[in-house]
Amino acid sequence: MDRRQFCSQALQIVSIGTMGSLFQACGGSSTSPDSAPALPVISAGVVNGAVTFSVDAASPLASVGGAALVQAPAGNFLVSRIAQDAFTALTAVCTHQACTVSGFQNSTYVCPCHGSRYSTSGSVVQGPATAPLRGFTARFSNNVLTIS
Ligand code: FES
Repeated sequence: MDRRQFCSQALQIVSIGTMGSLFQACGGSSTSPDSAPALPVISAGVVNGAVTFSVDAASPLASVGGAALVQAPAGNFLVSRIAQDAFTALTAVCTHQACTVSGFQNSTYVCPCHGSRYSTSGSVVQGPATAPLRGFTARFSNNVLTIS
């Protein structure tokens, strides 16, 4: 192989590598059928043993239908706003093999590991999970949501 041939082949390899990176960077093409957009993440604190955070106009929970993955020292929770003053709060630990449920699509929570789907009330919409997500009490007062 002479220098010209070597350079030509090297350029082709670089091009293929770049295209692969581009495809990955564009996302989507390598996703599984069970992938779903990631939930927005909210960081919460713990006050008097309860997970607490504010829901302001900029929050992903500002409007009905919004949902978020709430990360707190006490664990991760799936929170959805189901009415102006009503929220659901569920553990984010999948009942199948304990992955963190982190996707949300068509008003269902989606586990990234094996594609289980849950309603915002925690019931199984699609397996392999068979048990519902555990629910918690969510109280909303003065724009502060408290999960206990
Ligand atoms: S761990 Fe969630 S579907 Fe398997």
